[in-house]
Amino acid sequence: MLSRAPSVLTNDGDLADSGVLVSFPQAVFMANTIEIEGIVLHLAHPDTIPMKWIGSDQTRDQLVASWMTIADHDVPLNPRLIGIGGVGKTTLAYAVAKSLGRDVYIMQCTMDTRPEDLIVTPVIAGAGRISYHASPLATAIITGGTCVLDEGNRMSEKSWASLAPLLDQRRYVESIIAGIKINAHRDFRVCVTMNDDASTYELPEYIQSRLQPQIEIDFPSREEEIAILSFNVPFAPEQVTKYVADFLQKAHAVNLPFTSRDGVNILRYALKLGALKKAAPEGFLSEAIEAILGKDGAEFLDTGTPSDRLRGAMRETQSQDPDNESYFDEDEDEDEDEGKPF
Ligand SMILES: Nc1ncnc2c1ncn2[C@@H]1O[C@H](COP(=O)(O)OP(=O)(O)OP(=O)(O)O)[C@@H](O)[C@H]1O
Ligand SMILES: [Mg+2]
Repeated sequence: MLSRAPSVLTNDGDLADSGVLVSFPQAVFMANTIEIEGIVLHLAHPDTIPMKWIGSDQTRDQLVASWMTIADHDVPLNPRLIGIGGVGKTTLAYAVAKSLGRDVYIMQCTMDTRPEDLIVTPVIAGAGRISYHASPLATAIITGGTCVLDEGNRMSEKSWASLAPLLDQRRYVESIIAGIKINAHRDFRVCVTMNDDASTYELPEYIQSRLQPQIEIDFPSREEEIAILSFNVPFAPEQVTKYVADFLQKAHAVNLPFTSRDGVNILRYALKLGALKKAAPEGFLSEAIEAILGKDGAEFLDTGTPSDRLRGAMRETQSQDPDNESYFDEDEDEDEDEGKPF
């Protein structure tokens, strides 16, 4: 039995049949619960974030197609969105799922995420009572929402193993803690975002094979970059937005790990410094670049070439990934213009 109250926080109205559990003077918490095999589960709330994804239709279509079912016995795929941090993976997953009319649940994965955190956790509810709380993932499984397992490769194999049946034809999870089996709603969809850094695990083959297809999120074009910056910082003067977009584009051209997220932060920070000093934000761009991207960013701004430290780090990543194309040619710096690129 599913009892879903509207997901509102209100301080008035008729509460008679709305499943209210606790009320406070300023707010009323509406409870979402469901009973499965005699166990009452408290459901998580979906995320509502004003996110818009700007990018190629091709990337969007890859995600939409993965989630489609095209015949009675067809099952959706569980795509893996890959790309460096800040390139827009979570934004893409959230925005596409929302545009398909789904409730979206973003579940942050960490190295401490345990199998029970992924499914059902027990909470002491006073007087020796335990209440069971469904995770955002379990809530999406039950209600037919979409779950974004964010930064999935930070999670250990043990936790992934508990999801193996969910990610194939079986489409169920078992909660050891609550002693129940939860079958996925037919509308349930999931995707996983992953980025490559030192704090991630290499996923075992049997999990990788269930997280297909891989959808690679690339750097945006100049036009897209300007649109991303303008959407996120709509109050920035156009020429300042374009300056930051051009700086990022130059960095993308040599595959430096500077992303739109960095651009949004640079833009915001330069504008704030300008507002504080009552001066034009243009005068604070190099300070903002250094503050957001560190010395690597400052050096790239000054010379138009990546710092030695960054080159070393990028070569190391490249040598660990045989599929990765060369980040930049060995003799590239000889071709670079001297002096400031902007
Ligand atoms: N294509 C895009 N469209 C709209 N906004 C974007 C896009 N790419 C980046 N952004 C902006 O940059 C921020 C970072 O994006 P997002 O969190 O989706 O990146 P990510 O790839 O998931 O990063 P991480 O791997 O660190 O989680 C977003 O909050 C958004 O403001
Ligand atoms: Mg993310």
